[in-house]
Amino acid sequence: MKLLVINGPNINMLGIREPEVYGTQTYDDLCRLVTAYAARRGIDVEIFQSNHEGDLVDKIQAAYGVADGIVLNPAAYTHTSIAILDAVKAVGIPTVEVHLSDLSSREPFRQVSYVRTACCKAIIGHGIDGYLEAMDYLVEAKSVCK
Ligand code: DQA
Repeated sequence: MKLLVINGPNINMLGIREPEVYGTQTYDDLCRLVTAYAARRGIDVEIFQSNHEGDLVDKIQAAYGVADGIVLNPAAYTHTSIAILDAVKAVGIPTVEVHLSDLSSREPFRQVSYVRTACCKAIIGHGIDGYLEAMDYLVEAKSVCK
């Protein structure tokens, strides 16, 4: 099974940005954890991060016919991007939305997620472990996640 983990803007600043919100683990820690977990579970994983909306759209489009599932943290684009929503709908790849922080206890503008309607699950506020839960979900619930 091939999974693509996509992270949006400022996720590369983990460990530096707002540690009281996002914790002290770095983006490299996140990549290492995801890679090691995927290896243990026999998952072929690719990890991608960009600060640019169009690059995220391009990456989702390029996954068509290649990836069996996407773990997607669009970061701030969650709350603004119809383009990312449309890309996920266009490729029809089972996608799980992940957020490190607990959005429900944050600002009103973070309560909106455009991409959510195209995702089969949202894992929110579980920190870095949320990415592993999302991979588990995509492996185990593959047939019900369209
Ligand atoms: C985030 C939450 C977003 O609101 C924010 O813009 C981010 C990270 C999270 O993982 O908690 O950059 O997606």
